[in-house]
Amino acid sequence: MKRDPCGFLKAEYQELVDKSFNWQLRTLEGPSAPRAKVEGRKVIVLCSNNYLNLSNHPKLKEAAKKAVDSHGAGSGSVRAIAGNMDLHLQLEKKIAEFKHREAALYYQTGFAANAGLLPQLVGEGDAVLTDELNHGSIIDGLRLTKAKRAIYPHNDLAGLESALKQADAEKARRIMIVSDGVFSMDGDLARAPDICRLAEDFGAMTYFDDAHGEGVLGGGRGIGTHFNVEGKIHVEMGTFSKAFGVVGGLIAGSQGLVNFAYNKSRTWLLSGSAPPATAAACMAALDVLEKEPEHVKRLWENTAYFKKEMQGMGFDCGHSETPITPVMLGESALAKKMSERMFQEGVFALPIVFPMVAKDKARIRTIMNAGLTKDDLNEALRAFEKVGKELKAI
Ligand SMILES: Cc1ncc(COP(=O)(O)O)c(C=O)c1O
Repeated sequence: MKRDPCGFLKAEYQELVDKSFNWQLRTLEGPSAPRAKVEGRKVIVLCSNNYLNLSNHPKLKEAAKKAVDSHGAGSGSVRAIAGNMDLHLQLEKKIAEFKHREAALYYQTGFAANAGLLPQLVGEGDAVLTDELNHGSIIDGLRLTKAKRAIYPHNDLAGLESALKQADAEKARRIMIVSDGVFSMDGDLARAPDICRLAEDFGAMTYFDDAHGEGVLGGGRGIGTHFNVEGKIHVEMGTFSKAFGVVGGLIAGSQGLVNFAYNKSRTWLLSGSAPPATAAACMAALDVLEKEPEHVKRLWENTAYFKKEMQGMGFDCGHSETPITPVMLGESALAKKMSERMFQEGVFALPIVFPMVAKDKARIRTIMNAGLTKDDLNEALRAFEKVGKELKAI
């Protein structure tokens, strides 16, 4: 039989289409904003990670423009060769100060931080314990390690403790616990103080992915500050692509961690560094967070109002503790239909369906934005009520 070398491309794509698992991308025709132009329509955006509406903040835009003028469009290289700019170093100093940590390292993306660092922190003879709902970049990072992996049930401290006991009994050389800080599908929080306490008991390293906590929890400083366990988290990992409104990954912790990380993370060593405009905009984002606490305040005020009104109408909003508010619907088809109808009503809110969540746990995942006004929220709530009743979701 003669092979068709690329026949699988069409066949596998068609399989996704047949099962409705293919992504249908919506296109923004302008900036990411609380009210944005999406495919010709001005809609209220309830699914962006731009929690604080910083991606459009004048100070961030100004910083990016200035950096283009002073440093050019690109960095020219990987950091380790000739792409290490003063702006990268200034940003890392600022991240460390912001996080109240000794040192920090900036990666091109959060995904690159997880994929590059996790497999270096644990290897053969080690054990890594990971929450079953951790983000895909953690899963992929851990696929690259030879350490023994134990996946503990979501936020289950007893499950975590028994995995720690087993790793201890098996005399693991190093043990590391990895958890999302905020779980992005449900908006619930990792039990960080208990995890840190258990880690201490067993001499384990703690690694928190705070992609959805930074800019949101602890006045914007993240889960460590929120739970007052900053010094007990060995690796605080995060991203500038969400609440900070730009792009790029970060880790914060000890100087020892940073020295280790940049010498060993292959994604950092073997991939071009961030453009100067990006680094400058990230610095401006941290500056805004320090000087303008009103954005975080407004995010939480909006969140409280939206959750209360949605629950009052009879929607099941799961057990979120953060500005991620899932609207639990069950069936994938219902979630997709609802998202489509909401878009027609002027609200952009994406469905999350199997295989991203269990088959009977499809939902519309809403993410709050500090830039939405009370009028915007009321308009979105009216649309939810109308469509919810129409589709018998409430
Ligand atoms: C929990 C979590 N970790 C890591 C990432 C990756 O971050 P980045 O967008 O910076 O690659 C994401 C983004 O989707 C995330 O939600």
